[in-house]
Amino acid sequence: MKNLRLILATLFISYTAVIHAAADDDENDGKSIDEILISAATRNSVEMLDLFHMMEDNKMMAMVELDILLNMTELASYKHNSSRNKRKALRDDRFRWPNCKVPYEITESEFTGQDIEMIEAAVSDWERYTCLEFKRVQSSDANKDPDRIVFKNGDGCYSRLGRVGGPQPIALGRGCRRRGIVVHEIGHAIGWIHEQARPDRDDYIFVNYAQIPANWHRQYDKFRTQFINDFDVDYDYTSIMHYSGRAFGEGTIITKNPQYQNKIGQRDGLSFRDIKLANLMYGCAKMSRCPPQKRCPGEGFVGKDCKCYCPGTPDTPLEECPTTATTTTTTTRRPVIKTTTAATTTQPPAKVCRDVITTCSTFKQNGQCLTDKARMALYCKLTCELCDEDLNKMCMDYDDACPIFATAGYCNLTGTSEFVKVQCPKSCKLCEPQLPCSQADFFNSGSIPDLNKFLILLVVALIKF
Ligand SMILES: *[C@@H]1O[C@H](CO)[C@@H](O)[C@H](O)[C@H]1NC(C)=O
Ligand SMILES: *[C@@H]1O[C@H](CO)[C@@H](O)[C@H](O)[C@H]1NC(C)=O
Ligand SMILES: *[C@@H]1O[C@H](CO)[C@@H](O)[C@H](O)[C@H]1NC(C)=O
Ligand SMILES: [Zn+2]
Repeated sequence: MKNLRLILATLFISYTAVIHAAADDDENDGKSIDEILISAATRNSVEMLDLFHMMEDNKMMAMVELDILLNMTELASYKHNSSRNKRKALRDDRFRWPNCKVPYEITESEFTGQDIEMIEAAVSDWERYTCLEFKRVQSSDANKDPDRIVFKNGDGCYSRLGRVGGPQPIALGRGCRRRGIVVHEIGHAIGWIHEQARPDRDDYIFVNYAQIPANWHRQYDKFRTQFINDFDVDYDYTSIMHYSGRAFGEGTIITKNPQYQNKIGQRDGLSFRDIKLANLMYGCAKMSRCPPQKRCPGEGFVGKDCKCYCPGTPDTPLEECPTTATTTTTTTRRPVIKTTTAATTTQPPAKVCRDVITTCSTFKQNGQCLTDKARMALYCKLTCELCDEDLNKMCMDYDDACPIFATAGYCNLTGTSEFVKVQCPKSCKLCEPQLPCSQADFFNSGSIPDLNKFLILLVVALIKF
């Protein structure tokens, strides 16, 4: 992101590439998609968890939900947690790839041959199940395909949302170069938000804000209904776009149907409903000129070969629907998930003093508990012994860009102010009044015990003279 850090990270990466090559191949470590993203993002620096980032082209961008890179316009318009409709993919056609053609480029110098094979494998997953066609282009003839995905190295893994115009990155840092992650990031690039950010998510999951660092709460908000369309595909706990409940430690997302608590966060590949949504969204049956009146049993949909596809066994996401002419009912293997209103969500775990990322000891060794107290108080409370600090009283910014934002008026700007205020309480001048601001404030508040009034008066007097 910031240039120096990028260079340092690149050097560090080339140096450690050989040592870590083996570890990155391990696909079966039981880690969920969000755990992989967060540990990759905090591998070298905790700054990757910041909301705002100055990019190489000096554009300010926001990173939301660990891996979605938004510009300020997008940030201001997309997020909202008040409406209750059911949606999942960006609604506006201009965010889709025209004619289902997705040109992509791989910055070869930043990947090993094995990485490139893995990226190609993820791409072919999408091609197998949908009518999207990915065309690899070289940067030298990129002029022919100005709108394209560029796979490149990065700190952590992230993507833009939908086709935004021009070359758009899918960053794949060390630690998240895995097929499932790449499938997921391509999902963002074709226009998908996270499943748990769908406007109807509150019917299916409970977001346990007590477990999520305070400055991240807005990021767990739902997306605004007017931007999102779900093409009538139901909420899917098994989507590759769904996070687990372990992003910042256990219990951030609790499924209302307890049966699915351990199913969310998978990174094996596209689920049945993922595939169905992509087919509907990109009009695959229509593109193949399938008979428009064709109907499929149960949850089935018409695939690009005009056959009906229904949910498959655990090993395959889908299979051809049974052809017996009369079966129009009950062919879905997977239960259609309905809200069980009576479902008791597990009692939200109590807020305890703990680290929410796994790399805290490294940061402590580097002295960041002292030099970067604001961020450490959010992510490494325990290791940095900051348990007793009250964030509200610390009056600090959690983002290097805060002074700039405040000066530019973002603290008051409709749409962004909600994000900026939690990130920049100091620069936005939102902190609780500190000690000797104004005597009147203190003595009129009525909340200070009598005994202390005298002490405060004394302190104020001492400071004054
Ligand atoms: C949005 O979510 C936050 C939780 O951080 C909550 O405090 C707020 O009341 C919600 N807003 C609406 C409009 O539901
Ligand atoms: C942000 O991206 C959108 C496309 O999603 C674009 O239309 C808009 O102009 C961009 N805004 C800025 C400030 O770059
Ligand atoms: C932001 O708005 C508040 C009132 O809503 C006002 O008092 C304050 O001066 C404004 N701050 C800036 C930096 O414009
Ligand atoms: Zn994501």
